[in-house]
Amino acid sequence: MFWRSVVGKLWFTILLLVSFVLFILTVLLLEFFENYHVFQAEQELMQSAEKISTIVEEHEDRDLALSISEQIIDPSSRIVIAFSQDDYWESDQFNDSIPDVPVKWIFHHESLSQVLTQRKSIKQEEVVPTTNTNIMIVGHPLQRDGGAVYVYQSLKFVEKTTSQTTKIILLGAGIAIILTTIFAFFLSTRITAPLRKMREGAFELARGEFNTKVPILTHDEIGELAMAFNRMGRQLKFHINALNQEKEQLSSILRSMADGVITLNRNGNMLVTNPPADQFIEAWHYENHGYSQGKELPEELQKILQEVISLEKEVMTELNIQGRSWVVIMTPLYDRSFVRGAVAVLRDMTEERRLDKLRKDFIANVSHELRTPISMLQGYSEAIVDDVAESPEDKNELAKIIYDESLRMGRLVNELLDLARMEAGHIQLNQESVYIPDFVERITKKFQGMSDQHGVNLSLKIADKVDYTVLDPDRIEQVLTNLIDNGIRHTQSSGDVSISIESHEEFIQFAVTDYGAGIAEDDLPFVFERFYKGDKSRKREEGKSGTGLGLAIAKNIVEAHKGIISVHSKVDEGTTFMFKIPKK
Ligand SMILES: Nc1ncnc2c1ncn2[C@@H]1O[C@H](COP(=O)(O)OP(=O)(O)OP(=O)(O)O)[C@@H](O)[C@H]1O
Ligand SMILES: [Mg+2]
Repeated sequence: MFWRSVVGKLWFTILLLVSFVLFILTVLLLEFFENYHVFQAEQELMQSAEKISTIVEEHEDRDLALSISEQIIDPSSRIVIAFSQDDYWESDQFNDSIPDVPVKWIFHHESLSQVLTQRKSIKQEEVVPTTNTNIMIVGHPLQRDGGAVYVYQSLKFVEKTTSQTTKIILLGAGIAIILTTIFAFFLSTRITAPLRKMREGAFELARGEFNTKVPILTHDEIGELAMAFNRMGRQLKFHINALNQEKEQLSSILRSMADGVITLNRNGNMLVTNPPADQFIEAWHYENHGYSQGKELPEELQKILQEVISLEKEVMTELNIQGRSWVVIMTPLYDRSFVRGAVAVLRDMTEERRLDKLRKDFIANVSHELRTPISMLQGYSEAIVDDVAESPEDKNELAKIIYDESLRMGRLVNELLDLARMEAGHIQLNQESVYIPDFVERITKKFQGMSDQHGVNLSLKIADKVDYTVLDPDRIEQVLTNLIDNGIRHTQSSGDVSISIESHEEFIQFAVTDYGAGIAEDDLPFVFERFYKGDKSRKREEGKSGTGLGLAIAKNIVEAHKGIISVHSKVDEGTTFMFKIPKK
């Protein structure tokens, strides 16, 4: 691991280089010193030989010359002074390191004997055959009377000096290597320290710590690198922030959108959905699998996606799921020229469709309601014009019918206008404080004749606490009138219709209960709609004909008073309409 790091590599390289240089240097130094020592030793020996030859030549007294020679000779070497082949002198052996060289061997040696015979100086290294030792020997001829001086020394002596030098050189090299090792380690550690810091910084950056800063320790390339790194971190932080903001903005737009949005990749995996889209997907899974937990793309959308990918253009369709109608617009998303997916926008068009249907129904209902009285008016007036009626009584009767129908038509048109005004929010309430018991009693009395005619028993029950309440008396009378009228009309003779008024802390409650035909459960949610009539055949029975607008108007009036109106009913048991008007 260590060898792979920059510190290791640098350290190893420096060490290798220094070792190599030191090795070459050591070898060269050793070579040089060895030669130098040999040369030095030879030089010394030759000088001694020359000195001795001068002494011997200058002194007539041979004993004196020899004793002087003995004095000046280096104790590690030995002299042989040959006056002739048979007359020679040899110095003492001062110590054991001086080899014992037989003089005869010198005189008979091929090159050493040349000093004597050819009178020339020599210096060389030889091996003494008798003792097998290495020696260094020099010879110098004596100028007077012939003869020669030989000085020799053991080579071991030179080798000893050389080995000491070697030791010192090796020691120096060793110390240099150790110092280099330590120095190289510290150097490479120092160089790479900022690099390691930067590596840590990079890791932190990768973890998403964009505030990481690398210290700038030096002003060299590494310092510049650190500066560039910090700049890069700042840029990265800026861009990531911008991206995050963009993403958040997009997701909040998506979240608050009324339309559903689904982003898909090519394989049909949903990447992004917003709440309306989730509702759509849940509804699809509920309709197709009976549970709403599925997370796969609905098959219909899958098909549209395939179409979008193959055609490479926007595709629009309508889907009906769980009673709601959705318009789907799917647009391809490009990665350069390649379709990488699509984005689907889902719009819930149910309300628009409903309003459309309502409008059509309304027109159908109005035309139907108007057509009947108009055709009656036409028929009966034609009869009068054609003189079909013979007696004045018959004519009168026809005119009466025409009159009634025109009244009915007028009422219908007035009620429609009323309703239209209320639904447009133009209802004007003339509120005043009304004493409720008197008010309701008066209305009930109004119905006495009608109830007698139907044989219905009309009763009124007013709770004790009921007294003054602020409301629009004309409008509330309109509501009560319609409810009592409905009650009487839908009850057989000898049935009961009761009106009860209760006062609560917050509101006053009016209830009209009859024990008549009742309303089918399926129809209950629709009774307050315009033109709703329980009698589907729309046929006109005497006394039961109405426009189907009464309850719609009642609901609007009660709601304008900030109250609520409700109905409970059971077929063949009876119906209760109840409305509450808040007191404040
Ligand atoms: N007490 C009731 N018992 C049974 N059915 C009722 C009762 N009240 C209303 N309905 C049903 O609700 C329908 C709508 O009533 P609504 O008062 O709105 O219209 P209408 O009475 O037919 O006409 P209008 O009140 O305009 O003369 C009636 O046609 C009837 O079928
Ligand atoms: Mg009615």
